[in-house]
Amino acid sequence: MDIRTGNDGEVRVYFAAKETETIAGLEETFRDLKVREVFEGSQGQIFSNIMGPDSKFLLAGIGEKQKASTESLRRSAYAAGKEVMKLKEKSLQLILPELESLSFAEIFRSIIEGFLYSEYSFDKYLKEKKTKPTVENVYIDVTKDLENEARQMIDETTILLDSVFLARDLVNDPSMAMTPAALSEVARSRLEKVGVKVTIWGRDKIEEMGMGAFLAVTQGSDQEPRFIIMEYHGDPGSARKLAMVGKGIMFDSGGYSLKPPKSMETMFDDMAGAASVIGAMEAIAKSGLKKNVVAVVAACENLISGSAYKPGDIIKSMSGKTIEIFSTDAEGRLTLADALYYTVRELNPDKVIDVATLTGACVVALGHYATGAVTNNQDFMQEVKAAGDLADELIWELPNTPDYRELNKGYFADLRNTTENAGAIGAGLFLSEFVEDTPWVHLDIAGTAYLSSEKGYLPKGATGIPVKTLYYLTKRF
Ligand code: BES
Ligand code: ZN
Ligand code: ZN
Repeated sequence: MDIRTGNDGEVRVYFAAKETETIAGLEETFRDLKVREVFEGSQGQIFSNIMGPDSKFLLAGIGEKQKASTESLRRSAYAAGKEVMKLKEKSLQLILPELESLSFAEIFRSIIEGFLYSEYSFDKYLKEKKTKPTVENVYIDVTKDLENEARQMIDETTILLDSVFLARDLVNDPSMAMTPAALSEVARSRLEKVGVKVTIWGRDKIEEMGMGAFLAVTQGSDQEPRFIIMEYHGDPGSARKLAMVGKGIMFDSGGYSLKPPKSMETMFDDMAGAASVIGAMEAIAKSGLKKNVVAVVAACENLISGSAYKPGDIIKSMSGKTIEIFSTDAEGRLTLADALYYTVRELNPDKVIDVATLTGACVVALGHYATGAVTNNQDFMQEVKAAGDLADELIWELPNTPDYRELNKGYFADLRNTTENAGAIGAGLFLSEFVEDTPWVHLDIAGTAYLSSEKGYLPKGATGIPVKTLYYLTKRF
């Protein structure tokens, strides 16, 4: 499905608010539909008429004008896109709504984004594939002065959603296919061709680097771990650099602190952080953002075997800090400890953000609507939140006060890998022990990266959150 500017297309798709009285070219029909209360313009409502030989149209409700937002428009456009999929049409035209409360760019972007979202499905394992839309061309007519801006937004949004879909695919693919080696190969094949340098280390190099925390977690698995470093120099003249680190647990059984079966069912999604930094890197490089960004992933599985790590073990991280294992299920913070320490020590970023499906406690606290966040730097937190707002990916900050920082103190080791309470905050602050003085934000996406049922334009399964946030953060860095 290609989005283009221009006045063309067989089916016209109108976005109508509750207050909309008339639609040019559809005056009588529209009034009729309203009077008979067939179409009222409520948010997400769809009416389609494709039987008329010369007036094929589709109406998408956007609710009350006053309440319209980028998010509500995105949802309406998604609903329209889903409906369009059922039609056997080759081309259509989107007619944008006029709203005082939103700018042209906000309206344009949200609508094409919502529309593009409707194209996604994860069906590589289905014998009978889900129906793909027959629509090839989607037109939007804009005035001459807005043409360039519109084209740019189309290009950017298309690139961005392709990368969101890449992240979703990586997460949805089960761990039998998406091994550490497989993930590293996808990162290489998708990123090298857009100008990102990809370095992949196996066990020997990881041992040589002294990444004892990462190695402890991978010990029980037959799959070799991979340490993946992705570097993009969009601004070679500058030394400024942003770093992103993603949790890459390809499957989390809990280890000897075994998860109950129900909690384990979707634990192939425990690499959603890794998937999102890989997706974001692709979008950043493809769009040619003039920024320097590095992304790092420590990929492995958390399994059980005769060689797996055990509760009570005391391990030594790359930083030299020792960690007493209270739960082998609190493995993400261990792999991230070494990944973060390596990143700040060897890659010298100005700021570092980590993204992780880190704690069930975060899901308890925030559910599936907001990503939890912890920081050591308020300015950076505000930047991340602003990027999240642009993406409509809600980020909610959790406290970081000296009292909370006590939670991770160990007795026989420098640190312990669980806290007695405040699970999401404790896990975040554990990570802060490994970033030295670098401004840092931690995003806990345990509730937002994966859904058990669809929610608006987010499908059941992987959501691709927070690829868009990472992209906008970089763009504004
Ligand atoms: N991968 C899980 C966290 C998780 C839970 C992600 C639910 C997605 C959905 C993580 O490794 C984990 O098991 N955390 C433990 C930590 C505890 C043992 C301190 C948890 O949250 O229960
Ligand atoms: Zn775990
Ligand atoms: Zn985990």
